Amino acid sequence: MAIAYLNGEWLAPEKARVSVFDRGFMFGDGIYEVMPVYEGRIFTLEQHLVRLGRSLGEIRLRSPMSDDEWKILLTHAIEKSGEQTALLYLQVTRGIASPRSHEYPQDVTPTVLITVTQAPQLLRDSVVPYRMVTKRDFRWGRGDIKVVSLIANGLLKNEALDEGYDDAILLRDGEVTESTSSNVFIAVNGVIITPPKSHFLLHGITRDHLVELARSNGLAIEERAISEAELLGADEVWITSTGHELWPVSEVNGRPVGNGEAGVIWQTLDRLFQESKSTYLRS
Ligand code: PDD
Repeated sequence: MAIAYLNGEWLAPEKARVSVFDRGFMFGDGIYEVMPVYEGRIFTLEQHLVRLGRSLGEIRLRSPMSDDEWKILLTHAIEKSGEQTALLYLQVTRGIASPRSHEYPQDVTPTVLITVTQAPQLLRDSVVPYRMVTKRDFRWGRGDIKVVSLIANGLLKNEALDEGYDDAILLRDGEVTESTSSNVFIAVNGVIITPPKSHFLLHGITRDHLVELARSNGLAIEERAISEAELLGADEVWITSTGHELWPVSEVNGRPVGNGEAGVIWQTLDRLFQESKSTYLRS
């Protein structure tokens, strides 16, 4: 059952209400996290809490809770929902301030929203690779902060959809940053490559987990810039995110990637990823 927690209250998500003066609503002045829930447990919870703390620090907002308090609350949210496979959404905004002003209000309580919603189980046999198009990354210069203001990501995604693609791969100054809601990996001659962490892309938890898995299993991996030409000539391309785990890409700008099917490196990494989930769930 989908549920919401809003500032201390548990209720059905459609019943949750925030003030028109909430700075999240008026300024997009807030940050969020999306965490994966498998078998009723939050996967990579610690890593998400570290990123949450970082995002809050970057927007100069003190966390309304300690990590231990977040853990108790988030675990309670999953239990209350009774969901086994779900996405947990957590949003913290700067709170309610009136009259409207760009200046940060003093002594305002941040708004905390949590929702738990059922997610479909990702069955690997039914994965249909994505068809992607490249687009200029015109977003602001702090894609590393997980802010709720996602207007540019939405515009870019919907432009791609309107043009008949599944999503866009974004290029800043001719180099790949990420996709509109996922990170990007390629494989060239057996080497896995993903752009290095910077202010221009989200430091994805799935990305980091995959980099670690590749390293600890002796696969060749480089965190370095990817040019447009390298992307278009890659043997394999895939994206990573909490909702999609790792998802293969069959074509970019109408040109097939490899033979247009999920490649062997993707398959190896996907197996390692699924094994790491099972190990966690058995622990
Ligand atoms: N999106 N890059 C962007 C711009 C994202 O929005 C996301 C996640 C990622 C992947 O991060 P992670 O592996 O930590 O999920 C990369 C979330 C899921 C969303 O907005 O729904």
